Amino acid sequence: MSLRINDEAPNFTAPTTQGIINFHEWIGNGWAILFSHPKDFTPVCTTELGYMAKLEPEFRKRNCKIVGLSVDPVENHEKWAKDIEETQGYAVNYPMIGDGDLKVAKLYNMLPAEETGTSEGRTAATNATVRSVFIIGPDKKIKLTLTYPMSTGRNFDEILRVLDSIQLTANYKVATPVNWKNGEDVIIVPAVSDDDARKMFPDGWKTVKPYLRIVKQPH
Ligand code: BEZ
Repeated sequence: MSLRINDEAPNFTAPTTQGIINFHEWIGNGWAILFSHPKDFTPVCTTELGYMAKLEPEFRKRNCKIVGLSVDPVENHEKWAKDIEETQGYAVNYPMIGDGDLKVAKLYNMLPAEETGTSEGRTAATNATVRSVFIIGPDKKIKLTLTYPMSTGRNFDEILRVLDSIQLTANYKVATPVNWKNGEDVIIVPAVSDDDARKMFPDGWKTVKPYLRIVKQPH
């Protein structure tokens, strides 16, 4: 069964470019992003992993670790990391999991469906992970899942934007509107009465409809 928001993120131990990790211990008390790519030494993946290397300090500021994964061995990740730095201009200083036995890929449903008509099980084409992303909270629960096809590079700025929203809405009874960016106005959740909202937001808010109350982003 596929993993859902609020499920516990399955724990595992796996080899990475920074040694063997126990996933839950590695997350510790912070946030984490686990993301898979199909194959080392491929063009779209090179741009994606390079962009995550650029964004890593932003995730770190938000107390969020990031870890990549593919079915390639750790030694290949290490060699490929040099190409990523050379071509994308950012050194990969986050760990990459070598999931050669597909253990994590299967736990997190990162593999595409098997081709029909194959009696031998998975083929080389279906052995590669698709482009999955999981955001995991300090409670080890899944907060976001995202799955992109092999041929489409992800927008990791969006992942950072969602992390900002999730971290904000974990602490305040607000939700974030369409295309919201950190610092912009937010929405008071409908479950909060006006009486309670007055205590939470003493500077007031704008009522567009009784169910749509806009307020400055709390800090
Ligand atoms: C790529 O990263 O360019 C790629 C990898 C696997 C399938 C298609 C594209």
